[in-house]
Amino acid sequence: MEASNFYTGIFAELYAPLKSTSQAWEPYAEFISQEGEPALELGCGDGERILDLRRNGFDVDGIDSSTDMLARCAQQAAQADIEVALFPQRMEELELPRRYRSIFLAGPTFTLLPDDVTALRALKRIRGHLADGDTALVPLFIPAPTDPRQLGMVSEVVTKGGEVLPCSIVSADRDEDARVQRNLLRYEKHANGTSVVEDRTWLLHWYTQSGFRQLAEAAGLVVVALQDKEGRTISTDANATEFRVVLQSAR
Ligand SMILES: C[S@@+](CC[C@H](N)C(=O)[O-])C[C@H]1O[C@@H](n2cnc3c(N)ncnc32)[C@H](O)[C@@H]1O
Repeated sequence: MEASNFYTGIFAELYAPLKSTSQAWEPYAEFISQEGEPALELGCGDGERILDLRRNGFDVDGIDSSTDMLARCAQQAAQADIEVALFPQRMEELELPRRYRSIFLAGPTFTLLPDDVTALRALKRIRGHLADGDTALVPLFIPAPTDPRQLGMVSEVVTKGGEVLPCSIVSADRDEDARVQRNLLRYEKHANGTSVVEDRTWLLHWYTQSGFRQLAEAAGLVVVALQDKEGRTISTDANATEFRVVLQSAR
């Protein structure tokens, strides 16, 4: 299965109930207020952030590779009477009719791109949707190696409707040279006497700060700032495991 199809089927359905933390929308509102509208969220998923931004009056469109996730987003938008333009696209094939003052990912979704070649294609497509002086925000992280003691350990969520949702890591594999970690995840849903169990590989591909800068430059972008996850400017730090990269078109 292609990495961009990970959040489909039961993995899309259980994304929201299994999500352990909810990210705030305000940092992205701040970014858009500073850099301008219209804005575009890449990998908007089932819409937690983009719907908050739309609810608060921001002109923001969304794309996602998963039509299952977008259907959930559209359904929530309709229930809340929010209009939002959603496009089923992969960021590495981004092709939209308008250009954006701000393009962002709300969280480290960029690490779902499986390799540097795909990442470079995505950065070029981002570049193609920015005019001079417009800005993109790419949060990145370097995942910790999976602790072998976690393998086979089951964490379980029970929904209000009584569905039992166990989740576990079946196996883990890490390639430091390729900067890739593959965890085989098992998602289960038990409800009303029926069970669904599916295993799927969750791939993360990460970047060093200098490696990402090189890729961005190859795509016609420049790194105008490195930030910590709160948006404070930081200097290059080879040991940082969580950082945000602010990009603009190279002139
Ligand atoms: C971890 S979810 C985050 C969703 C949302 N941004 C949030 O914070 O709730 C990652 C999303 O990125 C999407 N995605 C993965 N690869 C993608 C790609 N190549 N292009 C566009 N979207 C992608 C997935 O389908 C999924 O909906």
